[in-house]
Amino acid sequence: TRRILSGVQPTGNLHLGNYLGAIKQWVEFQNTGKFSSAKDLDGKSFEEKDRDVEVVNENFFCVVDMHAITVPQNPDELEESTLKSAALYIAAGIDPTKSKIFVQSHVSSHAELAWLLTCVTPMNWLERMIQFKDKAKKAGTDSVGAGLFTYPVLMAADILLYQADRVPVGEDQRQHLELARDIVRRFNDQYCKGNPYKKRCKKAGLPTYPVFTEPEAMIVKVGGARVMSLTDGTSKMSKSDPAEASRINVLDPPDVIRDKIKRCKTDSLPGVEWDNPERPESTNLLNIYAAVQPGRSREDILEEVKDMAWGEFKPLLAEALITHLEPIQKRYAEVRADDEYLKTVLREGAEAAEEIAERTLRAAKVAMGFSVPK
Ligand code: TYM
Repeated sequence: TRRILSGVQPTGNLHLGNYLGAIKQWVEFQNTGKFSSAKDLDGKSFEEKDRDVEVVNENFFCVVDMHAITVPQNPDELEESTLKSAALYIAAGIDPTKSKIFVQSHVSSHAELAWLLTCVTPMNWLERMIQFKDKAKKAGTDSVGAGLFTYPVLMAADILLYQADRVPVGEDQRQHLELARDIVRRFNDQYCKGNPYKKRCKKAGLPTYPVFTEPEAMIVKVGGARVMSLTDGTSKMSKSDPAEASRINVLDPPDVIRDKIKRCKTDSLPGVEWDNPERPESTNLLNIYAAVQPGRSREDILEEVKDMAWGEFKPLLAEALITHLEPIQKRYAEVRADDEYLKTVLREGAEAAEEIAERTLRAAKVAMGFSVPK
């Protein structure tokens, strides 16, 4: 069995970056066992790595609400955002009979393991995190909570609790995955060797192999790299951008999508092209156009649109997006109309998650020498 785990923060609306860079890929993986567009940390493709390997995959997809509170959240909205995200996982094609869907805060081991790992992680590892530096700079150091600083340790706990073998994420999470791997090595090195460790394990009735599995990152590429902002092709599409026009949300109605695409930034050069470093917006819009038409090759798409003016290409893109998102939005409305179903899915997901998480947490505590009840 191979275990896959990933998560998305429930802040506000899920946007096209989260969908194309994460959830859509999870669905593909759930249904085919393959990640056609993912590479490992060294850039090796998984198609190559998985050739001739037969395994059963076990998928866990989490709504990471405890990560969301690293920046201020409105308590009146957090639960709704969480349910919304979970419903979107299902609407996008995550099937609760094939994958476990759960909410991070429903499984308290996440917070507990995060504390243990916080005490194993050197400050300067966290000081190096680009995303922290970015976010702290934007928020101003006075208002940055300590949680924003230790956030990558909580993310490591999410992954390590489940002994996840593989973690599909977008390029922006690469450094966090590297950190999770470093934490595993440090923990296993500090606590999981020698006779005293073996004795403690024996006493607790646990096996003596290292507590944590080193997770492998699957870096998902949408076209070139990431889905970029609609108002600036050089920065990523993000929920923290104050400009609503910079992103398409998965639940945006058709008119809003048409309007956002109509107004999105372009340039004054003729035609539409891919991978011209002078034209980041062109590359981004083409990537999106290609991503919502999975059956078509790059060549085919380029042939269709390369000579078009923006005024011609934009409506085409808007309609392709609307067509792709429509069934998801419809299914979303159905899921939200049945609260009982959604809550049952989340309860069963949390129960399955908890069973595994508690086992790992116990082993970590035994390794660290805590007094652990039988
Ligand atoms: P988050 O919530 O910011 O984003 C969730 C996923 O979406 C990807 N993503 C993008 N992909 C392409 N283009 C974009 N513009 C774009 N924006 C976001 C992210 O790479 C990510 O895969 N720390 C994580 C959540 C997390 C997690 C975990 C992930 C917490 N614990 C354990 C995996 C495993 C985060 O903030 O992602």
